Amino acid sequence: MADVTALNREFARYDQVEKSHTYRLAEHESDEFDEDYEIATLDLSQYLNGNTAEKSAFVIEFGAAIQDIGFAVLTGHGIDTGLYEEMHALIIELFETVPLDEKMRFRAERHGSVSQGYFPIKETSDIHPDLVEGWVWCRRAFDMPQDRQDEFRTEKFWPDVKYEQQFRRLAIAHEQLFLPIAQAMFQSLGCDPHIYDQKLKDTNFGLRANYYPPMSEDQEKSGAARLLGHEDVDLFTIVPAPKDEGLQVWNHHSDKWVRLNPPQGSIIINTGDYMQRISNDRLPSTTHRVAKSSDGSHKTTPRVSFPIAVYVWEDEILDVLPGLGEPKYEPIKAITFHTRSTSKFYGDDYAVESD
Ligand SMILES: [Fe+2]
Repeated sequence: MADVTALNREFARYDQVEKSHTYRLAEHESDEFDEDYEIATLDLSQYLNGNTAEKSAFVIEFGAAIQDIGFAVLTGHGIDTGLYEEMHALIIELFETVPLDEKMRFRAERHGSVSQGYFPIKETSDIHPDLVEGWVWCRRAFDMPQDRQDEFRTEKFWPDVKYEQQFRRLAIAHEQLFLPIAQAMFQSLGCDPHIYDQKLKDTNFGLRANYYPPMSEDQEKSGAARLLGHEDVDLFTIVPAPKDEGLQVWNHHSDKWVRLNPPQGSIIINTGDYMQRISNDRLPSTTHRVAKSSDGSHKTTPRVSFPIAVYVWEDEILDVLPGLGEPKYEPIKAITFHTRSTSKFYGDDYAVESD
């Protein structure tokens, strides 16, 4: 495992899209913060329910935000925010009441592109001892339409049926947003908004529950992060605004970190490596991390987040979209792209070169 002071450049060989900046994986006293940059907050209902002019106005603003920094905050998404409150409480219950040996029965392993299952504290990645427990469920872990998977069995993925039921509500609610968000992104690039409609039908996703336990004095002194700086490998990620602060976003214009504290009930959208690749670098896969809080609440309060990563299935080809200039990248199979990149976190033997 790398030292807590490791730099991203030490792992640049895994990158499958251009990433030229340098940052420490964990926060450090020399970090600089950008207090002036404001990540845009936009009203998605303008796009979901608006007339043509309102939709176009949303697309222009959304496109500007994600092209500039790869992040935007959306209100007006139509999801019952009471569900987010329930998920917060349920995730605390899941991590605090299910015994460790029971959680370890579901320990993460690769299935297709994604490492799925339970990640103990300090084992989210091989490269950094992050102070977070995590759990990842992909489409096959839910009683949802499954064209490409085995028959669904709850006990294979969940310590209790109630978790599947509640996390499924969240997955289905967010799945409603996959197409409109993707369509708005493609439209903002001047591409056919529907170019990924077929690929995104019943597509794969990774729903991740993150539980950051209160940090002890020793853990704080160790210099470890809550979650290391990284870029998401996906098309894009939807993250309901966490209750607790800590999310920081790299601003490549200023080479400083932006603290992102979105309004409760909103969702954060960020573009990932798949999107950077197919957009020919027009939409950046932006570095972000979870740091200690500025008010000391990380010493007393667990932090919870539940991002959902939107993927395409493993056998799809990631190709630069038409109309975006001379392609900088060759077409590549999604599983190859995904596992080459994430072998940074899971070891060199994680990469699947062909099947
Ligand atoms: Fe992330």
